[in-house]
Amino acid sequence: MTLAELEIAQAASLKEIASASDASAVESLRVKYIGRNGSIPAVIKAMKDVPKEERPAFGKAVQLWKAQVESALQAKGGSQSAEKTVEADLTLPGRWWGLGAKHPLSRVIEDSAAIFAKLGFTVADGPEIENRFNNFTALNTPAHHPSMDRSDTFWFGEDSLLRTQTSPVQIRAMMSNKPPVRVICPGRTYRRDTTDATHSANFHQIEGLYVDETATKPVSLADLKSVLAYFAREMMGECVTVRFRPHFFPFTEPSVEVDFTCHVCKGKGCNVCKQSGWIEVAGAGMVDPRVFKHVGYDSEKYSGYAFGFGVERIAMIKYGIPDIRWLYENDLRFLSQLG
Ligand code: DAH
Repeated sequence: MTLAELEIAQAASLKEIASASDASAVESLRVKYIGRNGSIPAVIKAMKDVPKEERPAFGKAVQLWKAQVESALQAKGGSQSAEKTVEADLTLPGRWWGLGAKHPLSRVIEDSAAIFAKLGFTVADGPEIENRFNNFTALNTPAHHPSMDRSDTFWFGEDSLLRTQTSPVQIRAMMSNKPPVRVICPGRTYRRDTTDATHSANFHQIEGLYVDETATKPVSLADLKSVLAYFAREMMGECVTVRFRPHFFPFTEPSVEVDFTCHVCKGKGCNVCKQSGWIEVAGAGMVDPRVFKHVGYDSEKYSGYAFGFGVERIAMIKYGIPDIRWLYENDLRFLSQLG
């Protein structure tokens, strides 16, 4: 095609489009001129045969022609370009948006609630901003106790603080319910800790409390141990059992620290458990009568046990997470491994 022939074809095409009377006529002219096998793509393809010196002018003219045809078609309500009218293939598979995963802390909390639910425990909730009475006094913590120090606890004035443990929810649960009480209380807790690989100023605990009438069902340390052993097996695997070590907490008497057998070496000793075969996971004990007194329960009539787990600790040993900070940094290299 020569430049002169191109100009004739150009004029003819624009005239033809201008006189198209309906959408189907416009569509067939689109196919005729700019469709995949239309005349303009054919002319572009044939440009290699145009003498070299005429090619720049010819190229410009073809582009102008194409632009004019496109805008003429658009003015007639047709599609602007060939590409845009490619029909969607409805049989193509959808685009895959990678699904997220539950955070390990949420998983531990939800799994724990499900395990304890099988034993009849319901979930109780309490506020993260607590008062002195619920967080310390009612839990039989003496006024001089170091945990009440300003260097250990985030205080707002004299009476309000960020709860340092989930134990105040025990107090709330007992003040608003008559026995029997069977609750777990998962939630955030705060301490003025410097953050390192195993400590964080903000962490999570799961509290547990069981109280019943001593005359009908005296609650014992053996009950506590069997419940924690069941939890250990369900949470960490069949091979995991529990050990109690004597300890002191103001709100339980006797008090114990609770270890799980190391699920990695099954108690033989490895790096995870620092060769001891055991991993510390909780504090627990029998509810101190002085706590009952603070909430108005008759300690002659009622007995109970309580426990408190560190959620981060369980998540770290269960999922092999070496640094607590990974749980809060939202680093995709860590989070994307959780699915
Ligand atoms: N509140 C304790 C802590 O933060 C953990 C704890 C120990 C909770 C003994 C309990 C318990 O309910 O009975 O260290």
